[in-house]
Amino acid sequence: MKKILLLHGPNLNLLGEREPGIYGRDTLAGINAEVIDKCRKNHMDCIAFQSNSEGEIIDHIHAAQKDCDAIILNAGAYTHYSIAIRDAIAAVRLPVVEVHLSNVHAREEFRHISVIGPVCAGVIAGFGKNSYLLAVDAVKELLL
Ligand code: DQA
Repeated sequence: MKKILLLHGPNLNLLGEREPGIYGRDTLAGINAEVIDKCRKNHMDCIAFQSNSEGEIIDHIHAAQKDCDAIILNAGAYTHYSIAIRDAIAAVRLPVVEVHLSNVHAREEFRHISVIGPVCAGVIAGFGKNSYLLAVDAVKELLL
């Protein structure tokens, strides 16, 4: 069975209470449960992890190379400036789908740049928790 790493970056542990007008009322636990359930229905295994630390996110990307087939990644603010996460993605030979709850292009200019985008398979942004659920469809297609 194909295995997906669902990886969340900084501040996403606060989903549900953090700026709900932008990020919605869904909690991280709720989103994880829906993504894991959708993966299961599509015959894929999924493990979820969140960290506020760049190094831990990088460690999980490295580790995924051993036992995962794809990564769904919301790197949070690291998206916009972490060359280290970009290099980790480029270093592993796994498809990564970049995800954002909000439409980053409709927000502040500094959010228009993604330094990880060029090394990801694709980007899904602006659909709230459905961004993650659409990413499951994307990885399924990528892994066919
Ligand atoms: C985010 C967008 C980022 O700009 C922001 O720093 C986040 C969340 C999103 O999911 O919309 O933390 O990645």
